[in-house]
Amino acid sequence: MKIDLIVGARPNFMKIAPIAQAMDTHKDKLSYRLVHTGQHYDHTLSDAFFRDLGIPTPDVNLGVGSGSQAEQTANIMVRYERLLNQHRRPDMTLVVGDVNSTLACAIVAKKRGLKLAHVEAGLRSFDWTMPEEINRVATDALCDLFFTTLPSANENLKNMGIADDQIMFVGNPMIDTLLGHRSRFKAPDFWDVLQLQPKGFITLTLHRPANVDDTQSLCLLLEEICKATTYPIIFPIHPRTRKNLPDAFQCSHLHPCPPLSYLEFNYLVENSACVVTDSGGISEETTILNVPCLTLRPNTERPETVTMGTNELCDRDNVAERIGLALSGQWKKGSPPPLWDGEAGDRIVAHLLRWSK
Ligand code: UD1
Repeated sequence: MKIDLIVGARPNFMKIAPIAQAMDTHKDKLSYRLVHTGQHYDHTLSDAFFRDLGIPTPDVNLGVGSGSQAEQTANIMVRYERLLNQHRRPDMTLVVGDVNSTLACAIVAKKRGLKLAHVEAGLRSFDWTMPEEINRVATDALCDLFFTTLPSANENLKNMGIADDQIMFVGNPMIDTLLGHRSRFKAPDFWDVLQLQPKGFITLTLHRPANVDDTQSLCLLLEEICKATTYPIIFPIHPRTRKNLPDAFQCSHLHPCPPLSYLEFNYLVENSACVVTDSGGISEETTILNVPCLTLRPNTERPETVTMGTNELCDRDNVAERIGLALSGQWKKGSPPPLWDGEAGDRIVAHLLRWSK
């Protein structure tokens, strides 16, 4: 069976890596073409991850770049459809996560009559203000094979009327990548310069439109975080956030830096006293690394990171108090959700082999 593996944006790369690796051991039965839509194109958001995670160079880069939601999604659709028209057609398209590349390629594949598989199917925040929620629901409405990472995702799919034999609970390929590369995590260059100490600093990431697109509320949020502690706060800045953060914003213990590579970023996370973020993926990684995580969102599509893991939702009004709690050592301890054991890629490929017969 020939499968197109689709990647587009940073959080896709660590999900596809273990799947591609597991497929490489079954080359006689499964072959893949790695298609990068080019949604993320900066070296720090894309190439550095391929290098760190040993992902093969994409067979095709659609080079779509940035744009409005509609422009980006439409451009990916046009270019992926052209690829399917011009070159050999796969039997199946496999998409991961919830970014615009996920939905765009899902629509094109389904309309061309290809089988469609979705890894990380069934996650729901039930928050229609997030473009990712629209991408998740619309992708799952088209999908044939649903690979799930959490029990709550299985329930959400059953509630949509998806048949049991289409739902394959496989665990979390992002955690395969985390566990597989944990021994290679490495300190970023500034570790010594800033004299950072294990558990003596905070890592902060922000990139959600609701938190960063309005400059004034972004600055107010950062002020709250800064006033919570005198610990150094390491802040790798996503390009979207960089655009909206005025140069004039200053806080002596806030250390902005460019986006980090996978191995450097997770070295920071593992050694952080706590992580403050609005990313869903990072709340999964902190759960496994047993690091307190404060998620600056009103909801999460990964509820088990809160009920089983180290994650708590917070907002601008209570983030300072929660940081204080985490730094005082009174945070809950996490336990891994079921099947987050580093074997998800193998399970996905075992199912694909079964479906290819
Ligand atoms: C996208 C995903 C989001 C994911 C995030 C991780 C969607 C709807 N959103 O959001 O779910 O959590 O990736 O980073 O798919 N830019 C660059 N260089 C790049 C890419 C983007 O400078 O390589 C800038 C562009 O100006 C662009 C902005 O960042 O307009 C946002 O990029 P975009 O891909 O639209 O969405 P993200 O915010 O990265």
